[in-house]
Amino acid sequence: MGGNAMQPLANITPLKSVPRAGAIEVRSVGQVFKTSTQDVVALSEVSLEVKPGRFVVIVGPSGCGKSTLLMMMAGLRQQTSGTVTINGAPILKPDPDRVGVVFQEASLFPWLTAEENVEFPLALRGVAKSERRAKAQDALRLVGLDGFGKRHPHELSGGMKQRVSIARGLVQDPPVLLMDEPFAALDEQTRMTMGDELLRIWAATGKTVVFVTHSLTEAVYLADEVVVMSPRPGRMVDHLQVPLARPRTYEMLSGDAFGRLRDRIWRHIKKSA
Ligand SMILES: Nc1ncnc2c1ncn2[C@@H]1O[C@H](COP(=O)(O)OP(=O)(O)O)[C@@H](O)[C@H]1O
Ligand SMILES: [Mg+2]
Repeated sequence: MGGNAMQPLANITPLKSVPRAGAIEVRSVGQVFKTSTQDVVALSEVSLEVKPGRFVVIVGPSGCGKSTLLMMMAGLRQQTSGTVTINGAPILKPDPDRVGVVFQEASLFPWLTAEENVEFPLALRGVAKSERRAKAQDALRLVGLDGFGKRHPHELSGGMKQRVSIARGLVQDPPVLLMDEPFAALDEQTRMTMGDELLRIWAATGKTVVFVTHSLTEAVYLADEVVVMSPRPGRMVDHLQVPLARPRTYEMLSGDAFGRLRDRIWRHIKKSA
């Protein structure tokens, strides 16, 4: 090469404005469902910025559009207006390299083992068997299910099934994990344990988490930030920072700071009930 060859790309400093992996931006998003009888405005002018590595919880009355919002962040549904970006780029279809999703129902295939369920997204993309098995085992270890890979869903408790679906959401190591009421079907004790487990995984992996729940206690306990939505058409009515120390402890639940945060959210929800 000549002496005046162009500078190799590796030496060019990236622009400061390039967002880090795991950044989510929702800008002026609206969603209108057209039904045979009427147009349903599910979301209106929703904007939300989630910084990389944050744990953000969304609460709001049933039907206010929380799941719709998460579906758009997952690329499972396109908004009617506005933009949604993940890592600075629009999300036009599901992209398990950028976003993992966990739903309320574990939605595992009953005929596959835990391991095969976790591997499933990798199998879809044609990843070699040995590589996907290794990744599935890593993910199962991360969620505390080492040694349970050969079991079928009916041989696992509700909490364990949700762990499998978290492992499946994490198997491609996406920077963003979206969770739609993932612990709603679990008993209270299992739910608390799962919350602590999730916080452990989050702390260990540095993922950005967006988590939807009906439980105000769960919201405050888990979150760095809580976003409160209004009844349909869903809008953001409050955005609270949760300044409680980490790791979160059971004792915090009965503290004044915890109570004040929960009351503030409750006042919004009560107004809309
Ligand atoms: N595919 C659809 N067609 C028509 N209306 C829908 C559809 N999906 C959701 N909706 C409506 O949009 C609103 C928001 O739904 P959803 O996002 O599921 O709320 P949430 O998760 O907060 O309970 C609800 O009123 C719901 O009935
Ligand atoms: Mg929902």
